[in-house]
Amino acid sequence: MEKMRKERNKEDEARPLFGLQSMEGLLLSWYDRCRRILPWREDPQPYHVWLSEIMLQQTRVEAVKEYYSRFLRELPTIRDLAAAPEDKLLKLWEGLGYYNRVRNLQKAALACVEQYDGQLPGDFEELKRLPGVGEYTAGAIGSIAFGLPVTAVDGNVLRVMTRLTADSSDVTSPETKKRITALVQDLQPEDRPGDFNQAMMDLGATVCLPNGVPKCGSCPLSALCESRRLGSMTEFPVKPPKKPRKKEDKTVLILFSENKTALHKRGNNGVLKNLWEFPNAEGALTEKEAEIWCAEKGMKLLRTERLPSYQHVFTHVEWKLSCYGVWVSGQPEEFLWLDLEGLEQRAVPSAFRPCCEEARKRLQ
Ligand code: ADE
Repeated sequence: MEKMRKERNKEDEARPLFGLQSMEGLLLSWYDRCRRILPWREDPQPYHVWLSEIMLQQTRVEAVKEYYSRFLRELPTIRDLAAAPEDKLLKLWEGLGYYNRVRNLQKAALACVEQYDGQLPGDFEELKRLPGVGEYTAGAIGSIAFGLPVTAVDGNVLRVMTRLTADSSDVTSPETKKRITALVQDLQPEDRPGDFNQAMMDLGATVCLPNGVPKCGSCPLSALCESRRLGSMTEFPVKPPKKPRKKEDKTVLILFSENKTALHKRGNNGVLKNLWEFPNAEGALTEKEAEIWCAEKGMKLLRTERLPSYQHVFTHVEWKLSCYGVWVSGQPEEFLWLDLEGLEQRAVPSAFRPCCEEARKRLQ
C-alpha cells in the first residue's frame, strides 16, 4: 500500500508527517473489518453520496437513514429532484432542519440537468460550483463516488488529526484547517481515497469520540497517537469558548376557526426563512395580550386556552414559546387556513412541532 501514496517532492518534504506514514495501512484494514454498513455506502452512486452528505451535515447518521431511503424512493434521480414541487421537498425534509440544504440541493439538481445532462460532474472544482457544495462535500463526493484523490475534512477528521498530532492550535481557524487538510492529503493513498476519507470519518464517529470519551483501546492508530502518548487526548481539539445562545421569548397563537387552524409563512430572512409557522408574537404575552393580538387582526374571540410552554434550541438562538389555543370566528387572509388533512400535508419545522400536535388533537 505504501507505494500507492503520491511521491513527495522537495517542496512537500518541508511539511512534517508526524510519524504517520504507516497510518493508511492500519486505518484501511480497520475500515475493512469495522466499517459501518450504511445505505449510501452499498451503492455509492454520485447522487446517493451527494444526498447522504447533505443530509449528514449537522445530523446524526442514525437520524438520516430513514430520511435518505424515503427521499430516494420519492425522487430516485437528479432529474426527479430538479422537477419536484417545493412543498414536496420540504415535506421530505421535515424534521431534519436547516431547510436551506434541500433548497440548495434542488438548485444544484437544476444546474446538473442544465449543464451536465442530469448527472453530477466528476470534477472537484465543478462540484464546488454547485449550490450547497463546499470544500468538504465536494471532497466527499469526489473521493467516494468518483475516486478522486481529494480530502473531506469535517469536524470528526479534525478531531482525529489534532489528537494524533497533539495539535493545540485553534481548530476553528481556517489556517489550522488548511494545514490539517494538507497533512491528510499527504497521508491519503491514491488507490482508495474514498475509503480513506470514510475511515477517518468512522474513526471519529465511533472510536475517537468527542466530549472526553475516546475509546483508545479500540483505536487502530493508538500506537501512532501523540496525544495518547502524552495522556492528553481529551485536551484536543482546542476550540475558543462558544458564545452563549441568544434567548428569545415568543407567544404562539394556535388559532381554530370552523375546524381549521392557521399557518403563517415566515419572511425571507433569519431562522426558518420562508417556512410555515404557527402564528406568533414576540415576547411572553399574557392571556389578555394574546386576545388583543387576535382582535387586532380582525378575529372575533370565542374561547382561549393556555397550552403547555416549551423550548426550542437552534444553533445560535434559543426560543421559549408560550402557547395559547384561541377559538375565533373569521379567517384573516394573512394566514393559510388548513383542516387536519391539509395540516398533515404541510412541512412544519420542528420548532413548531408541539403546536402541530396540539392543533391535531383539537381538529377532527
Ligand atoms: N459523515 C458524513 N459523511 C459520512 C460518510 N460518508 N461516512 C461516515 N460518516 C459520514
